[in-house]
Amino acid sequence: MKTWVDRLRQEQTLPPEGYKALLVCRDADTLAYLHRQAREVSQAHFGPKIYIRGLIEISNCCRNNCCYCGIRKGNAQIERYRLSRETILDCCRQGYELGFRTFVMQGGEDPAQSSDWIEETVAAIRKQFPDCAITLSLGEKSKEEYQRFFHTGANRYLLRHETYNPTHYGQLHPAEMSQHTRIQCLQWLQEIGYQTGTGIMVGSPGQTTEHLVEDIAFIERFRPQMIGIGPFIPHRDTPFATSTAGSMEQTLILLSIFRLMLPNALIPSTTALATLAADGRERGILAGANVVMPNLSPREERQKYTLYNNKASLGAEAAEGLAILKKQMQAIGYEISTERGDFGN
Ligand code: 5AD
Repeated sequence: MKTWVDRLRQEQTLPPEGYKALLVCRDADTLAYLHRQAREVSQAHFGPKIYIRGLIEISNCCRNNCCYCGIRKGNAQIERYRLSRETILDCCRQGYELGFRTFVMQGGEDPAQSSDWIEETVAAIRKQFPDCAITLSLGEKSKEEYQRFFHTGANRYLLRHETYNPTHYGQLHPAEMSQHTRIQCLQWLQEIGYQTGTGIMVGSPGQTTEHLVEDIAFIERFRPQMIGIGPFIPHRDTPFATSTAGSMEQTLILLSIFRLMLPNALIPSTTALATLAADGRERGILAGANVVMPNLSPREERQKYTLYNNKASLGAEAAEGLAILKKQMQAIGYEISTERGDFGN
């Protein structure tokens, strides 16, 4: 088993059976070895630095009805909100003072936040914070819309493909959505010149090891600059309310595989991982992640952005918890970096 790990580290690729063997591996020694190799590669590229991104959840209104997601259109139980441009700029200002140099605007596909509105919001952030990176995570748009946001000053875009297998994609999403459109969007983003992030939920209902191997193969071909990997966590007001959550171990295996495959990728230790276990964030870092994304959203709205149940939004998760986060990182030998942390720098 360790030879697969060594080979992946040396060649940055494996045949499908190698990935499969790692994904089903439950041997503690081998997994410790895998995570150690991934950690070494991460440290060789980034040193002990962990980049921070300030996450601003700009709207929980969404036109989509994804089966896993708590802010799906069909959920009548949640209180909806959308932030005004002024509030978003306030979040950025507070974040800037705390040391953040990347702002991530994430939200549902909210038709009320039109492309004109998004463009003007990006322009306002760009003007007030010229030294900051602007990341968007606003779902599927047309190529023209992505282009407009880019030319106004957005630098990065996060759009997880969720699962590469079209049949599995169909099991997670309503009929109007398709894997084809999702991949098309990702290709546009890359062509336009965004630093592009994609990724998956681990352990989503119906996911098999074969599906994960397809996801790995896709990411290997696509070569995203950022990779978001987190466990699926059920939400009580979705069709997947009674499904089991994804596993910590499998999520960590995937983080390590991606680190060894794409040594200079930006890989967050996600909120979902921190939600699954108290030490989830640290374990993600120790498996090769090098980014954390604390929450800069206004406190009142934070509980409403419930993609899944018990989503961590306080303590080290929140931007004001930066001091706690610094301590947590120091305790495992890392330090928070306030650099912009662009890909390739
Ligand atoms: N569990 C874990 N992650 C989820 N996401 C959405 N719903 C859930 C859930 N129930 C993730 C998706 C999406 C990202 C913003 O949040 O992967 O791309």
